[in-house]
This record gives sequence, structure tokens and C-alpha cells, in this order.
Amino acid sequence: MLSCRHIASRITQVFVANFRHAPAPQRLEIFRGAVAVADNGRIVRVVRADLNAFLKQLSPQVQIHDYRKEPQAFDPGRVDVHLHGPQFRNRYRFGRQADEELELLPWLKQLTFPEELRFASVRHAQNVYQKLLTELLRHGTTHALMYGTIHGEGTAELFQAVWQAGLHAFIGNVHMEQNADDACKLELPVEASLEISAELYERYHQKADRRLRLVIIPRFLPCVPPSSLDRLALFADERGLLKTSHISENPGEVAWVQELYPHQGTYTQIYADHGFLDARTIQAHAIYLDEKELKLIADSGAKIAHCPGSNTWLNSGVMPLTHYLDRGLSVGLGSDISGGSDISMPLVGRQAREAAKLYAALGRQWKRSEQAESRPLTPAEALYLQTLGGATCLGIEAETGSFEVGKFFNAIRIDFSKGNLQLVSDGDIESNFQRFDLAGDSRNVAAVYVNGQNVNLDPFGLVGV
Ligand code: GUN
Ligand code: FE
Repeated sequence: MLSCRHIASRITQVFVANFRHAPAPQRLEIFRGAVAVADNGRIVRVVRADLNAFLKQLSPQVQIHDYRKEPQAFDPGRVDVHLHGPQFRNRYRFGRQADEELELLPWLKQLTFPEELRFASVRHAQNVYQKLLTELLRHGTTHALMYGTIHGEGTAELFQAVWQAGLHAFIGNVHMEQNADDACKLELPVEASLEISAELYERYHQKADRRLRLVIIPRFLPCVPPSSLDRLALFADERGLLKTSHISENPGEVAWVQELYPHQGTYTQIYADHGFLDARTIQAHAIYLDEKELKLIADSGAKIAHCPGSNTWLNSGVMPLTHYLDRGLSVGLGSDISGGSDISMPLVGRQAREAAKLYAALGRQWKRSEQAESRPLTPAEALYLQTLGGATCLGIEAETGSFEVGKFFNAIRIDFSKGNLQLVSDGDIESNFQRFDLAGDSRNVAAVYVNGQNVNLDPFGLVGV
């Protein structure tokens, strides 16, 4: 056991302010106190009472950041469990003409795959990924799971940008070997694609202080046949890597999968039979699942990335989120850039609440017996999903997601006096946090801390802050 004196001597900085976190799905805590951080970036004390006595006994070398007199407070850094890095500039449009709006499959073919083809150019990749990382930071995302493209050097640029920006990320090259673009320029045989993963593994995963981790990503079943899934799963499992993909997002996609692989069972069953349904797998969307599939997912411990903005804007459907949560499924939130356009996780949290409200209201209005019973998402759950819930999906819940001793200090400092909140915020901290959840944006993110470090919000000099 360390003595108190020893712990106190390891403290290098102390944050004094209002703090909020959701240490459990149904528990939202706000406390006024102090969080003490050691030189390794980990939280060593969380002080909720006798604050003055604690502050008095600190050595003069300790840096004290006191925000009690400011309209500011701390939240945990946000965790985005599903986004496509190369689609950053594909946001806020869903067709080639101003009045066109496409659904998933034509959207992939006509807009998204052509955008990803451009990442054969390393310069293009560097340019876009630096913009992406700047926006992620400005919105308070400290951890993200990100798809690259099929390209090795292009995806290496994503690792580099994350490293320079100072975030944590799980990144992978995207495995695609069929049904992509007509010219097959966005397809690689699984062997070639695995060679790229192996190289990225050596270059980044093995070396980068666990801030960069490789994830294995077959895009979805139309692009990767079950036999290749086995090879990809083996590669991941031998190295303890996370695995991720898309599942049951759109009715046309689900029908296509059944057509491509007849007699092999449901979408979920195919993933389960080929190594992509276990506790280290995160499956995105998961809208059209029958009871048997839900049970398979629950029993496997696989995680679900809920992408409410994307589900709405690609007209994919509404995931019965609270139904899944009440069944004990492990869920995180994904911006799904660019199926979803908004990179802000607080905004994605709001989208999740709105979708759950509409789903519950429709069930009540129609009183249809086959409608799954549902309920709105609570504010505590919405915060949990953006923070500790997302961290749990990524297997890093012991490292981040809440203000608890032993975790890294990964946080955002919210300024309630800016942007949409400027004229409505007041001295009531409970109300201010509620308003931030519904109307906050990057203007309210005054600072972002990763492993205790206040990171530069304009790491590539792109926005001039
Ligand atoms: N399914 C396969 N690829 C994609 C993608 O890029 N975005 C979304 N939303 N779904 C997909
Ligand atoms: Fe996606």
C-alpha cells in the first residue's frame, strides 16, 4: 500500500472545478471538487469533500488549475466507436445533385467509393486526415475507432495524423475484395490486404505507447466473403486485436447478403460462424435483427456501434436502442462519418435520444403488438454511451471514460458562456450541463486533455485558434 504522503508527492497537477460523468449507464454524477493527476497522466485522487484541506497540503510544485470562478466544468473525453476517416469531406450531402438523396447501396457506389478511391494519393490522405483530426479534437473526441481505406500508405497517414494530434485511436485498413467499384480499383485479394495490416501492425500498433492500435476491418459481407472472414479473424485473434464491421443496416443490404450467401443463415449467423461475433468485435448499425440474432449477439459478448445520425440520413431505419440496452447488450455511439454528417459526439448523443424518443412514441401511438416495447433514452445513458459505454466497447474501460482513480485524465473543459449557450446559461450547473447536451458545439469545448496533457486544438495550424 502506498502511503498518503507518497501519493500526494506523485501529484503534478490538480483540477478544481465542477465535474460530471456517468460511471454506470443509469448513474449521472455531478460533483464540485478536485481531480489530482500524476505525471503519467493518471488520476490519483478524486476529492469530493474537504477540498480546502486537500488543497492546503499540496506541495508548492503542484500546478493547480482552478475553474470554480469560471462558467466552466469538466466532462470525460468523448469516445466515437465508428467512423470512416476518408469520408470526412463526403459529409452533409447524400447525392450528386442538390435535390438527390441516396440510400446506403447507391450512396456507397456513387458517392462514397469514388471518394475513398482518392486515398490512393498519400498527399490527399494527409490533407484530409489532418482536417479530420482537427475537427475531432475541437469537438472533444479523445478516442475513436476509425476506418481507413484499402490503401496501406493512405491509412498510414491516418495513424500519423492521430499520433501528431495526440489522440487515442483504433485504426485499420479496410478489407474489400468484391462488389466495390466497377473498375475494381477499390478491391484487393485478402492476402494482399492482410500484408498491409501486418505492416501497419509492425509500424504503429507495436510501437506507439498504446495510443495507436490496429483494428481488423472487413467492410461488410457484400465486399468480403465468409471464407476471407476466417483469415481476417485468425490474424486478429492471434494478436489480440479488435475486429469491426457493419451488420444489418439497410433492408436492401440484408437481402443482398442473403442472395450472395444462401443457405448460410442470417447476417449475424454468418459473422458468428466466421470469427466476427465475440467480445472483441464491434458491429455497426444492427437495425434489422430477429430475436435469434439478438440472442446470438448477447451470448457472444459482441458490441454494437449505434449510429443514429447515419441511420436517419441514409433512411436506413431506427435501431431499437433502449430495447437492446434493457436486454443487456453492450452499445457505444458512432458518428459514422459520413453516413452521419456530424462529428460531435454530444450531438450524436442528442440524435440517439431523439431517435429513441420517436421510436418509443410511435410504439405507443400505434399500439402495434409486434412493435418491440421501447422507452426514451435517459440523459445519464446518453452521456454513458458517449464515454464509458464507448470505452467498454473498445475494451479500454479501465483506462478512460470517467473520473476514477487509476484511469487517465481524458477530459473536455466545457465553457458554458459561448455559442448557443451564451445567452441561456446561468449559475445552475445542472441546467448548464443539460443545455450543453442539447445545444453545445465546438465553441463550448474550451480545452481537451489526453492523458493529463492539454492538447493543442489546432495541431496542424488549419483553423487558427
Ligand atoms: N456499409 C458498408 N460500408 C459502409 C459505409 O461506408 N458506411 C455505412 N454507413 N455503411 C456501410
Ligand atoms: Fe459505417
